[in-house]
Amino acid sequence: LPIKKAEFVSCFVDMKSLPDNQLPEIALVGRSNVGKSSLINKIVNRKNLAKSSSTPGKTRTINYYCINDSWYMVDLPGYGFAKVSKTEKEKWGRMIEKYLSGREPLRGVIQLLDIRHPPTQNDILMKEWLNHYQMPILLVATKADKVSRNEKQKNLAVIKKTFNLSPEQPLITFSAVTGEGVEEVKAAIEEILAE
Ligand code: GTP
Ligand code: MG
Repeated sequence: LPIKKAEFVSCFVDMKSLPDNQLPEIALVGRSNVGKSSLINKIVNRKNLAKSSSTPGKTRTINYYCINDSWYMVDLPGYGFAKVSKTEKEKWGRMIEKYLSGREPLRGVIQLLDIRHPPTQNDILMKEWLNHYQMPILLVATKADKVSRNEKQKNLAVIKKTFNLSPEQPLITFSAVTGEGVEEVKAAIEEILAE
């Protein structure tokens, strides 16, 4: 999947105004600060296309990036961010839920997990919820550069066990710093788009 062109399209705060040209979409979910925006930048090989930040809660809207004029990568606000009001959390929750359950061009979801930690309750709920909607999911364990080789294997095993993954279900190890896993993620996206 050679990425020749990537451009920011727009931010959206509600479903009504989303693009209606029927290009297929791949969305990113995961808790706040897990590295969703960084993954987009790494995949498209652009430092700052998607705004990333060490402060959780950076992405607060549904952000569309158009790739090769042919599909969208969709950056969603992260979940589980403590420092937002309950009202705002509920508003985002509803927006994300509506998007994930009702967005016709959505072909698949990349769910990001922090390789350093076991999946949170929100991660588990999100996965179950996506399964319920029979949404193709690509699981990516990110920040792989932050763990030793030993920890990596150990932590991947914990994630697989928590999610009840069978051995053949892929779990890609990724790092936005070293580029580990970039080609695997691209190949998996290509597969989802081809289905
Ligand atoms: P929200 O927009 O708040 O939901 O966060 P996000 O999931 O988009 O995370 P973002 O990409 O903004 O990254 C959060 C922080 O983690 C930033 O400081 C990134 O530089 C850092 N980060 C992201 N991916 C990696 C990675 O693979 N390795 C390391 N070491 N740091 C990473
Ligand atoms: Mg973000």
